[in-house]
Amino acid sequence: MSKTLPNHSPKDFSSWKAIEEHQKNIASKNILSHFENEPNRMDYAGLQWEDFYVDISKNRLDKKGFDLLIELAKESELISAIEAQFSGAKINATENRAVLHTALRSLKKEAILVDGKEINPTIEAAQNKMYAFCEEVISGRWKGYSGKSITHIVNIGIGGSDLGPAMVVEALAHYQNHLDIRFVSNVEGDHHVEVLKGLNPETTLFVIVSKTFTTQETLSNANSIRDWFLTQAPEGGIAQHFVAVSTNLEKTQAFGIATENIFPMNDWVGGRFSLWSTVGISICLAVGSQHFKALLQGAGKMDLHFQEAPLEKNIPIVLGLLSIWYNNFWGAETEALIPYTQYLRSLPAYLQQGIMESNGKSVGRNGKRVDFQTGTIIWGASGTNAQHAFFQLIHQGTKLIPADFIGFKKSLNGNEEHQQKLLANFIAQTEALMTGKTKNQVLEELRNTELTEIQKQELAPFKVFEGNKPTNTILIEQLNPENLGALIALYEHKIFVQGVIWNIYSYDQWGVELGKQLANTVLEDIQKGISNPHDPSTLKLLSKI
Ligand code: F6P
Repeated sequence: MSKTLPNHSPKDFSSWKAIEEHQKNIASKNILSHFENEPNRMDYAGLQWEDFYVDISKNRLDKKGFDLLIELAKESELISAIEAQFSGAKINATENRAVLHTALRSLKKEAILVDGKEINPTIEAAQNKMYAFCEEVISGRWKGYSGKSITHIVNIGIGGSDLGPAMVVEALAHYQNHLDIRFVSNVEGDHHVEVLKGLNPETTLFVIVSKTFTTQETLSNANSIRDWFLTQAPEGGIAQHFVAVSTNLEKTQAFGIATENIFPMNDWVGGRFSLWSTVGISICLAVGSQHFKALLQGAGKMDLHFQEAPLEKNIPIVLGLLSIWYNNFWGAETEALIPYTQYLRSLPAYLQQGIMESNGKSVGRNGKRVDFQTGTIIWGASGTNAQHAFFQLIHQGTKLIPADFIGFKKSLNGNEEHQQKLLANFIAQTEALMTGKTKNQVLEELRNTELTEIQKQELAPFKVFEGNKPTNTILIEQLNPENLGALIALYEHKIFVQGVIWNIYSYDQWGVELGKQLANTVLEDIQKGISNPHDPSTLKLLSKI
């Protein structure tokens, strides 16, 4: 196994020990007291970059703690790890692969080599092929078997071959053309039946997206959908209606996809980081190549920021460190992500794969079990809906839940009144989470009610808000393809920052393999009768099916 990332035990770092000590010293302090003690708090806790303003001041952290976290990044050799990633070193050591989704959007002209070969020409060729194809379909020049233009697209894929494209298509709905884009992912037969409802095979294009082209869900769906297609269309129509994205050209051809309809991708792009590659073809079909290029451009700019900005001004690094602060030093188990726009309602689900598949690891880069917490649990939903769902627990529950609030200054459709209300909620929530409400304030509010003094005293504790709940605010100018690209790249880099510090490999996903193997064994038992050994509980369940 090649070792290109540093191998360390973060708990041995002097910064780690100092952070532990410092946490104990400030644990009882309220966030508001940090504002009182630091008149210039906003100087280091407000980060401006391009269209982004990131406010980290509403955290249980003072300047000394911030500096210690920066020290932790230094001791972890984060800078050289970033260089290794961008240069094409095989930092995904357990799979012996480079990690180069960043090369797909690189704004630098320098050549990137993988196994001694320059990859830029490969990237350009794949992108140009995708752009030309999308242009044909969008313009209506691409015809189906009966001579009609395409009106509907069905993306067949799962995991990174579904979540990223689906999230971005939804996020960029404002920029979408006339094509109707649908997604099939689950192996459950009812899913594809629902998605196919009302579709005309003459005007529908199916995009099979699978990096490996061996994934059970995707292949089952692709086969069933092909059967459905052939009940109405001639065999020869497959070429006009089925295209594929994969690294596995052999298996793709064996499925019956014409060579010219295969869009290649490379193994140095991880599934959950692949929307920038030809895996993003549904995005490109939905919004056209200009917007797709803008998405890449935004991510490329964030890459430069990540590579070049000083640690204390570097947004992905600072957010990654804050997450470590709560995960490893405060015992927080989850992080909430609340985008204040309905367009980004699928961002939490998308980042669940990105973050939890990447950093849900317990073995360090030294091959030994780590003795500290790694991957954070991510969850969330769009605001203001979330306020009426789970915010009660964040405000008054017993758990510490750091939260990222993501909002956009300008709306897309220009309804000022609604936008002001949205932003008012966006800002009021983080303020309320931090400041809370004291018993005296509650009693003051109850002063002019008809309740008796005893009743007021009895009710007051239930209306008290402890406050001191930490949040980060990410305020962005407007939701456009470029800013969306930058936002996604920000979270991608945050994942890497944490993986480097935790001394784990963020880019493999061996944990998902067990499920794949077991499903095959159990399937055999369901189809042919139980013959494989299982535990009593599983045997009982199988007997019920
Ligand atoms: O869930 C595991 C995984 O390997 C993901 O990393 C990937 O995005 C997904 O399966 C789909 O894989 P493929 O694109 O090869 O079908």
